[in-house]
This record gives sequence, structure tokens and C-alpha cells, in this order.
Amino acid sequence: MRVLYLSASAELGGGERSLLDILASLRQAKPAWSLRLLCAAEGPLRDEALRLGVASEVLAFPRSLARVGEAGVAPTMAGTLQLGAKLALAALPVAKYVDDLRSVIRRVQPDVVHTNSLKMHVVAAEARPAAPLVWHVHDYIGGRRLTERLLRHQVARVSAIVANSRSVANDVRSALQPSAPVFAVPNAVDLHRFHPAGARLNLDALAGLPPVEGPIVRVGLLGAFGRWKGHTTFLDALARLPDDVAVRGYIIGGPLYQTAGSQYTLDDLQRYSQRLGLTGRVGFTGFVQHPEEALRSLDIVVHASTAPEPFGLVIAEAMACSRAVIAADAGGAREIFTPGVDGLPHTPGNAESLARRITELARDGAQRERLGHAGRLTAERLFDRARLAGDLLPVYEHVMAHA
Ligand code: GLC
Repeated sequence: MRVLYLSASAELGGGERSLLDILASLRQAKPAWSLRLLCAAEGPLRDEALRLGVASEVLAFPRSLARVGEAGVAPTMAGTLQLGAKLALAALPVAKYVDDLRSVIRRVQPDVVHTNSLKMHVVAAEARPAAPLVWHVHDYIGGRRLTERLLRHQVARVSAIVANSRSVANDVRSALQPSAPVFAVPNAVDLHRFHPAGARLNLDALAGLPPVEGPIVRVGLLGAFGRWKGHTTFLDALARLPDDVAVRGYIIGGPLYQTAGSQYTLDDLQRYSQRLGLTGRVGFTGFVQHPEEALRSLDIVVHASTAPEPFGLVIAEAMACSRAVIAADAGGAREIFTPGVDGLPHTPGNAESLARRITELARDGAQRERLGHAGRLTAERLFDRARLAGDLLPVYEHVMAHA
């Protein structure tokens, strides 16, 4: 069995890390399979894949395609038209890209082509591979007008769709009405790596903050700088904490993607935090190589996405590290934790609601402990990445049987 995975980005965002977990799980369960990866850009994903024994190559997107994206574009007619115009300009280079991709697929001769990002779903379908095509959808499609239209146009060419949560699976079904089956395959984590015990980081040193004197509760948001990830909600919440709550906040991560306009810059967020008077109370660490070490260094992990989170890998990772988690109560994130048992919910985009949760947990070490402990148990039950191979086999079997 030979599977070719196609990824637009080679940065280590959630979608790419989820792909690595799949590769790791399949290598373990099916060592004889041949797994190959093609990325549309250079990046650390390639080395990480190689470490798992998966060789990769780069077929770079033309710049016009790499930069265009619907995230952050207003879902209005004007926004959609503007985006459509940008895509139209990219038409020629994209046609060439599709040709080149077709040649690569012919050379590799996969039994299955598995695409891991929206642009790859479209260009791979356009390349009409001889092998069955599986789309792995990590994002909501409904409401993103152009994405929806492009995918709908191609959905007849797909043999199966994998979604990263039940919520995304439902969205895919209603937005695309595919005749191919949709399988919900929730993400999983490496439970050895994301474990309560292990190395930690000195977040203060990383962020250039002086060491803290006296007891402090460390609260952090970890992730890429996508605009919908709620960094400003988190900062707003920190600014609303009562004076007697001894908390230091951390923003861990950086801008990861090439898509124009979809993310904050470090400067944006630092200025925002200055304006709120948070200087010295919030640290910016930049991108960290080992998120598990960063998570273990926090007492409370905040997930603050303002739009429904398709899955929310960081929530599962934080739970696996026995951290107390506060997560935005919407979308696929709801399938990960049980409010009050292994995490606390807050209203997405509502700084007041988030501030109340942070205050509650900052004052209650016993509750943090209880939530963290329950979180690890949930992660062991639901998010062991050994499950991924078992979840994907029926998908691949289905598409091969119907090829
Ligand atoms: C995307 C989604 C995120 C999910 C990740 C892995 O980044 O936005 O919610 O955790 O993919 O599936």
C-alpha cells in the first residue's frame, strides 16, 4: 500500500501536526506501507516526517496561490469578489501547478492520495489522479463562500472525506453534500510526549521578563497567530482580572502562515497589550519548538478562539499534560472536554467570561489539580494516537474497494 500525502504548508500548525500523528500511527501499525509526503513549501514538517521514516519533496505553490486565502476575508459579496479576482489572476500559474502535480502523482503511483489542506484538496482534485482521493478537512467550510464553491465544484472527484471532529463532519455534509462518505476522525496526541512529567521551559526568560517574586499562577495561550484564535480576547481578559489575583500571562507562538491578512504580527499583539497597560504582566515567548514543554510550564492553558474551533489540538495536548484548561465553548472543541470535569468553558470572544474563569481557577489550586488529573484520563481514553491508524484503515479500505 502506498499513500501520498499532500500538504500546502510545511510549518507546524495544528493541521500539519495532526498529519504527523497520522504518519507516526501508520508507521507503527503498518510498517510495510510506503508513505510519501509532498509539501507546497519548505518547512520543518519535512524533517519531522523524515524522522518518522517518511520522505518528502517540495512542489512549491506559485506565490499568487500561496498568499491567497479566505481566512480573515469578510463573508460579503465584495470580499468574495475581491478574493475571486485574486484567484483569477492566479489561474495560469495554478494550471501549471496542477500539471506538475499530476506528473509527481504519476511518478509516485500511489494507491491513495490524501490531501491535508483546502488548497491541496482543490489542486489535487483538479489533477484528477488515477488513485482515489481522500480529503482530510481540518476547517469549517460552510460560510466561507469561495472555499465552499471551489470544493463543491470538485467534490464529485473525491472518494472519501475525513473530518477532524463530528462537528466538522456535519459541516462538510451540509456544505458540500458529497456522495462520498464522510468519516469523523478526531485528532490524537503522542501521550508519551504530551505527558505531565518532563522538561519545562523558563517562560519568563524566553519572554525577557524578570523572574517573579512570590507565588504566581501562569496562564498562557499557545498557538499560531491566526486572527480568530482570540489573542486579543485573552489580553482583554487579563486586563480585567481583579488586582488580588497574582497571574502572569503568556502568549506562546508566532505567525506561521503565508496567507496575507489572516494573522496578527507580534508587533500588533505587543502594542495591543501595551495599550491595555499589561506591560510586564504578559510575556511573548515566540515560537517554541516543543509545545509540551511550554504547556507543562503553565498552570492554566487558555484556548480562546472567537470562531468555532474545528477541533483544537492544543486543548487535547494540554489535557494530556494534566493542565487545567479553559476553552471556548463551541464547535469541535466541545467534543474534547466535558465542562466542569476536565476543563472549564467560556463564551467564545467574551473577555468578561474568560476573565471570570481565569479568576476562579487562579484562586483555586485544588480545582486546577482536579481538572488536570481528569484531563489526562480523558486524553488516555480518547486521544491516544495509536487509534489513528485504526480509524483510517476503514477509510482507505473503502476507497480502494470502490476505486
Ligand atoms: C486546524 C483546525 C484546528 C485543529 C487542527 C488539526 O488547524 O483549525 O482546530 O485542531 O486543524 O486538526
